[in-house]
Parts: sequence; C-alpha cells; structure tokens
Amino acid sequence: MKKVVILISGRGSNMKAIAENVQTGNLQNHCEIIEIFSNKFNAEGLKLATKMGLKTFSIASRKQKNYNELLFEHLKKLAPDFIILAGYMKILNAKIVKHFNRKIINIHPADTNLHQGLNGYKWAFENKMSKTKITVHFVDEGLDSGEIIDQIEVDISNCQTLSEVEQKGLKIEHKFYSECLLKIIE
Ligand code: GRF
Repeated sequence: MKKVVILISGRGSNMKAIAENVQTGNLQNHCEIIEIFSNKFNAEGLKLATKMGLKTFSIASRKQKNYNELLFEHLKKLAPDFIILAGYMKILNAKIVKHFNRKIINIHPADTNLHQGLNGYKWAFENKMSKTKITVHFVDEGLDSGEIIDQIEVDISNCQTLSEVEQKGLKIEHKFYSECLLKIIE
C-alpha cells in the first residue's frame, strides 16, 4: 500500500473523487491517504475531507514567511510515496520538487503544451476551442512544465457557457485522475 498525501487550496472535488476511489473504487487496496493538506485554513475541501474521515492539516501560506520551509519539513516527516496536487494553487519550490522527484503529480484542465497556469477551462472556452486536453503530469520546478503522464480529450464544442465546459471537464477529471494514479502507483 502506497502512502499518499493530497495537496489542495480550494473546493477539493478532485480530492473527494480520489478519496472515494481509495475507499471503494479503483484505488482501493493500492494506496492509503495519510493526509489532506491545504495552504488555506478555510479551504472548502478541508471540510469535505473531515466529513470523509480523512486526516487534515494546513499551514497558512499567506501568514507564514517561511511557508515553503515549513511545508518541506512537514512533507519529509510524513514521508509519502506520492504527493498528489488537486487544485493546489502554489508552485512547489525546488527543494521539495528535487526531494520528491517523480513522486509529485498534478492534474491540469488543458494541454500543458499549450496553456500553463490558471483558468485552463476559461482559456479553452474563450479561444473557442472544440476540445480541451486534460493533462496529468509529473511536477517539476516550472509551471505545469513537468513530464506528461497521460492526456484525455474532452469535446466542448457543444458547450454554450464556461460553466458547462467546467462541469463537463471536471466530471472527466474525477475519473481520469484516479486511472492515471493507479498506473503510476502500480
Ligand atoms: C481542477 O480543474 C484541476 O484540473 C485544476 O484545478 C481544479 C481544481 O478543482 N488543477 P477541485 O478543487 O479539485 O474541485
């Protein structure tokens, strides 16, 4: 059983989907979630995690000047096999990335070759793209620049609003992320 930590900053819908798959889905008996970590005390996802019976922890990135150092020490203590980013809105510093080389994974709503950073669905919608490519990738020191693990195309040509694009994409993220994680964990 691999030990995983999930890092979030907000809503936590991907975290919830992964946790459900660990409890009763494709990740059952493959990994154990040892902690849900957030850089924001009031992240919605933390409440969700608590409801699901998961252990939570947070360090306020806004208040702690040495946030990255504290996070690094914390992660080293936990010694996870994998660190899963699920809507974690900060860039991990080089020390953390180096220490956990090829053990940190992220999901991005667009093709990371074409769009990096925030608002991937908005970017796809505003550019009137007929499809977006959700990307799961290893995390390196750059912004969404790590080696791609897998991608899945989502047809958004019939979506009239950004919210439709997001809903359709997120539904696919929730399944796809756990499928990719299973491949990596195995
Ligand atoms: C997702 O769209 C994910 O691809 C991106 O941030 C969003 C997080 O959503 N990295 P949630 O917090 O998992 O609901």
